[in-house]
Amino acid sequence: MKAVVMSDYGTNDVLMVAELAIPQPGSTEVLVRIYATGLNPVDFKIREGHLKELFPVEFPRVLGGDISGVVVDAGALAKDFKKGDAVYFSNPLDRDGGFAEFVTVDQSIVALKPKTLNHIEAASLPVVGLTSVQALRDFAGVKKGDKVLIHAGAGGVGSFAIQYAKYLGAEVYTTASSQRSDYLKSLGADRVIDYKTEDFVDVAQKAGGMDVVFESIGGTNYLRSILATKKGGVVPAVVNPPDAETESLAREKNIKTSFMLLQGSRRDLSHIAELIDRGIIKTSVSKTFALDDVALGLAELEKGRTQGKLVVEILPN
Ligand SMILES: NC(=O)c1ccc[n+]([C@@H]2O[C@H](COP(=O)([O-])OP(=O)(O)OC[C@H]3O[C@@H](n4cnc5c(N)ncnc54)[C@H](OP(=O)(O)O)[C@@H]3O)[C@@H](O)[C@H]2O)c1
Repeated sequence: MKAVVMSDYGTNDVLMVAELAIPQPGSTEVLVRIYATGLNPVDFKIREGHLKELFPVEFPRVLGGDISGVVVDAGALAKDFKKGDAVYFSNPLDRDGGFAEFVTVDQSIVALKPKTLNHIEAASLPVVGLTSVQALRDFAGVKKGDKVLIHAGAGGVGSFAIQYAKYLGAEVYTTASSQRSDYLKSLGADRVIDYKTEDFVDVAQKAGGMDVVFESIGGTNYLRSILATKKGGVVPAVVNPPDAETESLAREKNIKTSFMLLQGSRRDLSHIAELIDRGIIKTSVSKTFALDDVALGLAELEKGRTQGKLVVEILPN
């Protein structure tokens, strides 16, 4: 099969197109013919070696965690899907992934893809959807009337999280640059904070403090997110763990906070598929790339200015 492999840690120069053997499914795994794979910042973070401690890489490695495709084979104990089922999933980061024509995956973390989406659209969902559901519903317990601040609302995670927080009944604040305002309002954001001209901590404090801040920027933004949160609030963080100062302020304000990593989950993916098929949540793919052009796609994502999602189309939909 054709795949894009990473031969070492480094820039996009370490990525090359190669021919690999089609993997064989283990007993509880399915073999999936990949139609599309979404791009995520974690792809270039792993490529750069930033996550070496968490996810050590054996080379050559195929990156790409957001996958939509069709089941073509299954191990002896993998009975949950049949050949021809269209599925989507978030591939574990310590395994070969979706910048390839085939992948094997344990059936327990696979779900039927939303019926109303093609594979390109479906491949834009698992990572951002699972992250948002697990951060906002499970960790933060967002409920009707909560004031929730979603950082980087125009990006992949933010675009999904705004809609999910609205679905949970929250009043949604979001940070973005001013030209994204119409897009973010169309997703349901109640208040767009232009982070280039407004201080989100001021806005939050004037509103009496946020019940929940979804911290998806990292660095000093984490401490500032704690400042923006009410006493007793919740701050799920998905970029880095809290430093000592952030942890200490969170303790002082009785704020529940933690760095979290998304977990593969059929149940959550089925929930997301249902919200998509009921028209409650929409996905926005702003650009697609060919498999040969994964490096170009990652270079674009690395600029940090993406609206919605970027997706690699592997087989015509
Ligand atoms: N822990 C986990 O399980 C997990 C899961 C998923 C993602 N993540 C992490 O979450 C982060 C976000 O991921 P993503 O896929 O959403 O990234 P993304 O799509 O690349 O985000 C791009 C967006 O960020 C906005 N942005 C950049 N700087 C900003 C700032 N200071 N304030 C507000 N918005 C800003 C940009 O808007 P403008 O152009 O308007 O500036 C752009 O729309 C990444 O670090 C990713 O690795 C973690």
